[in-house]
Amino acid sequence: MFELKKLKQQPKILQKIKYPTGIFLAVLLGIILFSIAQALSQQPVVLNMLMTAPDAQPWRQGIIKDFEAKNPGIRINIIEGPNATNLLEDLYTSAFILGDSPYDLINMDVIWTPKFAAAGWLLDLSDRISKQELAAFSPKDVEGGRYEGKLYRIPMRSDVGVLYYREDLLKQAGFQPPATFADLLKISESLKKQGKINWGYLWQGRQYEGLAAMFVEVLEGFGGYWVNPNTLEVGLDKPETLKAIATLKDTIQQGISPPGVTTYIEEDTRRIFQSGQTAFLRSWPYVWPLANAQDSPIKGKIAIQAMVGTPGNSGGACLGGWGLGISKSSKHIKEAWTAIQYFTSEEAQRQFILNAGFVPSRRSLFTDPQIVSKYPYYPQLLKIVDQAVLRPPIAQYPQASDILQRYLSAALTNRITPERAMQAAANETRRLLGSG
Ligand code: GLC
Repeated sequence: MFELKKLKQQPKILQKIKYPTGIFLAVLLGIILFSIAQALSQQPVVLNMLMTAPDAQPWRQGIIKDFEAKNPGIRINIIEGPNATNLLEDLYTSAFILGDSPYDLINMDVIWTPKFAAAGWLLDLSDRISKQELAAFSPKDVEGGRYEGKLYRIPMRSDVGVLYYREDLLKQAGFQPPATFADLLKISESLKKQGKINWGYLWQGRQYEGLAAMFVEVLEGFGGYWVNPNTLEVGLDKPETLKAIATLKDTIQQGISPPGVTTYIEEDTRRIFQSGQTAFLRSWPYVWPLANAQDSPIKGKIAIQAMVGTPGNSGGACLGGWGLGISKSSKHIKEAWTAIQYFTSEEAQRQFILNAGFVPSRRSLFTDPQIVSKYPYYPQLLKIVDQAVLRPPIAQYPQASDILQRYLSAALTNRITPERAMQAAANETRRLLGSG
C-alpha cells in the first residue's frame, strides 16, 4: 500500500519540484518587465520646440542647461528653423495641419496667437496662471497671447522696433539725433557728402513679415494706420500711407539706402550697419550686444532711440515679441507647463536677456540693476514698449500681412505705382475681413 501510494504520489512530487521553477521564472519575468518599464519611465521626457536659428543660440547658452539641471526628467530639443518669422510660422502651420504636431512647446511670435488659437491648435492656459502673476508682465505682451478672452501664450520676451545711430559720427559733425524722417535724410546726406559713410539708412525691405513690422512704424510716424482691429476699417489707401511709401522710396532714390535694401531682412541690415558703413539702422534690440561685441568695428560708437516720425506725429514702434504656448496634441502637457513656468520666470528671463540683449516681458527687469548696468538704455526702452503699436490682432493676420507685403514690395521695387498697389491692397484686405 505504502509503496503504491508512494508511486502514485511521485508525479505530484515532481510537480512540486516544477512549481517553484515556474514561479521563479514568472517572478523573474516580472522583474525584467518591471525594470524595463522603470527604465522606460526614467527616460527623460523630450519637449520639442522650433525656433529661428539666431534665437537658438541664446536659448542654448544657459536657460536650457539650467532648466534641465533643475528638472532631470525633462529634456528640451530645439529644432532650428529659417530666420524669417513667416517661414517659421509656415512650418508650424503645416505640422499642425498634417495631424499631431511634433512640437510640444510652441515658441510663438506675438502675431500668431489669433490664428493658432482660432484653428484650435493651442491649449488654453487661462486657468494655469493667476491675474497677479500676469500683472508682472507688460500688458501688451499679455494681450498678444489672448484670443477671444482666453490666454494661449505666456510672454517670454518682448520686442520693439528702435532706431540705432552712429553717435560718434553725429557728434563729430555737430548733429542732434533726428526727430523726424526729414532730419534723418538730411543728416544722412550730409555725412555721405563728407565721405563718412557709404549709406545713410538701413531698413528691412524684403517681401516678408519684417517688411510689415517696419512699415507699421513708418505709417504711425505719418499718422496713418493699417487695420483698425475694433472696426476692421482699412487705412492702406489713405494719403498717409502713400506719404509713408514715398519716403521709403526717397531713401533709395536719393542714394541714402542701398538699392539692395528691398531684399534685406534683419540680419542683412545688421551686418552692413555693423561693418561701419552706415549712419542709421531700424531694427530690434537684439542688435545691440552684437554691434558692441569685442570684434565689432562700431563697438561703443552707437546709440539707440525711438523711431522718428513727422512734425506733429511721434515715431511709431512696432511691438514684436515671443512667447510660449503648448500644442493641444502634446503628450507631455504637464512637463511643457513646467518648462513654461521656468522659462518665463524672472530668474530665467534675467539670464536670457543678459546674454542676448532681448527685451524683457517682465516689467521689473527693465530697471533691474544687473541688466541696467549692462544695457543702460533699458529704462528708456520700457517707455518705447508702452507706446508700441501692435500689428492688427486678428485671426486673418497672416493673410492680411501677406497682402500688404506683396503690394508694398511691388510698389517699393517700382513694379506698380504706390497708388494702384495700395488701392488693390486695401480692397483685398477689405474683402478678407468682410469689411469692404
Ligand atoms: C522680430 C519680432 C517679431 C517680428 C519679426 C519680423 O523677431 O520679435 O515680432 O514679427 O521680428 O521680422
